[in-house]
Formats: sequence, C-alpha cells, structure tokens
Amino acid sequence: MTKIVLTYITLILAFLLVAACSELNTDIPSVPKINTHGDSLYSSTSKNFHPKTIANSPNGMYDCSECHAADFSGGTAKAGCNKCHPTINVHLSGILDPASNNFHGKYIRNDQWEMSGCQSCHAENYSGGYVSPTCLNCHNNAAGPENCTTCHGSP
Ligand code: HEC
Ligand code: HEC
Ligand code: HEC
Ligand code: HEC
Ligand code: HEC
Repeated sequence: MTKIVLTYITLILAFLLVAACSELNTDIPSVPKINTHGDSLYSSTSKNFHPKTIANSPNGMYDCSECHAADFSGGTAKAGCNKCHPTINVHLSGILDPASNNFHGKYIRNDQWEMSGCQSCHAENYSGGYVSPTCLNCHNNAAGPENCTTCHGSP
C-alpha cells in the first residue's frame, strides 16, 4: 500500500515538475527590440544616420556621453562606440588643454604616435569629416599634424 501511494506521489510530482517547466518555457515573452535611434544608423542617406544626430545635437558628440559614457565605452546604453571607433575615447574634457592629462597630444604620444584612428573621422588629410572639425587651423604647417615640427619641435 505504502509503495503504491509513494509511486503515485512520485508520478504526480514528476507531472507537476514537467507542467511547471513547460509553462515557464511558453510564458516568456520574446525580448523587445529597444531601437532607441531607429533603423539604418550607418547609412548616410538615412535620416537616422548617427553623424546626422550628432550634427543636430547642441553639444555635438558630447551629448552622446550621457548614455554611452564619457569615454564612449558603453555606459547605460551598454553599446560602446569604441568597437567601431577605437580612438574615440580621446574626446574627454581637457582634450585641448596641454596641461591636462587628457590632452590629445599626450594621447597620441601614448598610442605610439598612431594617428590613422583620428583620420578615420577627421579625414585622411585632417581637414575635417562629416561632423569632425579640422586639425589644420591649429596644425597649420604643410601636412598638418604630420609635419615634422609637430613631434620634433623644429624641422
Ligand atoms: C538617452 C540615452 C541615449 C543617448 C543620449 C544616445 N544614445 Fe545611442 N543608444 C542608446 C541605447 C539604449 C542604445 C542601445 C539599444 C538600442 O539600440 O536602442 C544605443 C545605441 C546606439 C548605437 C548602436 C550601437 C550598437 O552597438 O548597436 C549608435 C550608433 C548610437 N546609439 C549612437 C548615438 C549617438 C551618435 C548619440 C549622440 C548624438 C547617441 N547615440 C545618444 C541610448 C542613447
Ligand atoms: C568617431 C569619430 C572621431 C574619431 C575617431 C576622432 N574624432 Fe576627434 N572629434 C570628433 C568630433 C565629432 C569632434 C567634435 C566634438 C563635438 O561634437 O563637439 C571632435 C573633436 C576633436 C578635437 C577638438 C577640436 C576642436 O576644434 O574643438 C580634437 C583635438 C580631436 N577631436 C582630436 C582627435 C584625435 C587626436 C583623434 C585620434 C586619436 C580623434 N580626434 C579621433 C570625431 C572623432
Ligand atoms: C557599428 C559600427 C559603428 C558604431 C557602433 C558607431 N559608429 Fe560612428 N560611424 C560608423 C561608420 C561606418 C561611420 C562612417 C560613415 C560614413 O562616413 O559614411 C561613422 C561615422 C561617425 C562620425 C562621423 C565622422 C565624420 O566624418 O565627421 C562620428 C562623429 C561618429 N561616427 C560617432 C559615433 C559615436 C559617438 C558612436 C557611439 C554613440 C558611434 N559613432 C558608433 C560606424 C559606427
Ligand atoms: C585648438 C588647437 C588644436 C587642434 C584643433 C588640434 N591640435 Fe594637436 N596640438 C595642439 C597644441 C597646442 C599642441 C601642443 C604643441 C606643443 O606641445 O608645442 C598639439 C600637439 C599635437 C601633437 C603632438 C604630440 C606630441 O607630443 O608629440 C599631435 C601629433 C597632434 N597635436 C595631432 C592633432 C590631430 C591629429 C588633431 C586633429 C584630430 C589635432 N592635433 C587638433 C593644438 C591643436
Ligand atoms: C607624429 C609624430 C611624428 C612626426 C609627425 C614626425 N616624427 Fe620623426 N619621429 C617621431 C618619433 C616618436 C621618433 C622616435 C622613434 C624612436 O625612437 O623609435 C622619430 C624619429 C625620427 C628620426 C630618427 C631620429 C633618430 O635619432 O633616430 C628622424 C630622422 C625623423 N623622425 C624624421 C622626421 C621627419 C623628417 C619628419 C617629417 C617628414 C618626421 N620625423 C615627422 C615622431 C614623429
């Protein structure tokens, strides 16, 4: 008798377990796509092209930091800009102040004088991109920042 009751209880428990599991599986809603900025963020013909959003923001790219972190590494948006723009973290406050640790010259120096990452936005000849300002009004010698004097102090 006890054996039969135990078998029944085991069967019922097993059934409940399976029922609970299958219920869990079917009741989970699919994760909604957040899609904060709309579609086609990378197509220059789209109204959502992300540089266009920057162009229309009062503080330019610095307005993106609110959600994407000051160094653009992700922030609350959990979406880093640096996976496509590895040197974008140079844009911290102090970037134009030679006395600051965030001065862009120090960043480039620490990065083995590698400037191709900057060129990807500020243009091959550093004259500025879609929204990125030119480097040439400060580095106004021939070849801009690549002029020998920029790093060697004199020709
Ligand atoms: C109010 C918060 C907020 C602000 C401000 C914001 N973003 Fe975002 N952004 C998000 C969130 C959240 C995501 C990720 C989820 C999604 O796609 O909706 C995202 C995703 C992105 C992506 C896609 C990244 C990827 O890895 O898929 C790009 C590109 C982007 N944002 C550009 C910008 C630019 C450029 C600015 C500034 C002009 C900006 N965002 C400002 C919240 C924000
Ligand atoms: C993802 C594109 C992008 C990359 C990569 C990039 N920049 Fe920029 N940079 C910008 C934008 C956009 C601004 C203007 C900031 C704003 O929106 O107000 C800017 C501004 C600057 C400024 C300030 C110029 C001024 O006149 O105010 C300096 C200096 C600068 N960048 C240096 C660099 C250096 C050095 C690198 C490479 C190590 C670099 N940037 C890489 C987009 C970029
Ligand atoms: C999935 C890769 C990807 C991500 C993520 C991404 N970008 Fe871009 N970004 C691009 C591409 C590709 C371009 C060039 C578009 C073109 O020139 O047609 C671009 C262009 C830009 C430019 C314009 C440079 C110029 O010409 O002046 C800026 C500024 C910029 N991105 C900033 C950001 C910021 C800020 C974020 C994060 C909030 C971000 N990007 C995230 C791929 C990305
Ligand atoms: C608002 C003016 C200004 C802008 C814009 C600017 N720079 Fe500079 N940059 C300076 C000053 C000032 C120095 C320091 C010169 C010195 O130390 O004598 C400097 C230093 C440098 C150095 C020297 C690094 C070293 O110490 O050896 C490089 C390389 C450089 N900048 C590249 C760039 C690039 C690339 C851009 C554009 C993306 C840019 N700069 C935009 C003002 C500017
Ligand atoms: C973006 C920064 C940068 C620019 C621009 C630059 N250099 Fe240099 N150069 C360096 C660095 C850093 C070294 C030291 C490399 C080392 O010690 O490994 C160097 C080393 C040299 C050396 C070897 C010096 C020695 O004692 O071994 C010569 C020669 C030289 N550069 C010439 C030039 C000339 C000519 C130009 C302009 C056409 C120029 N450089 C532009 C950063 C720069």
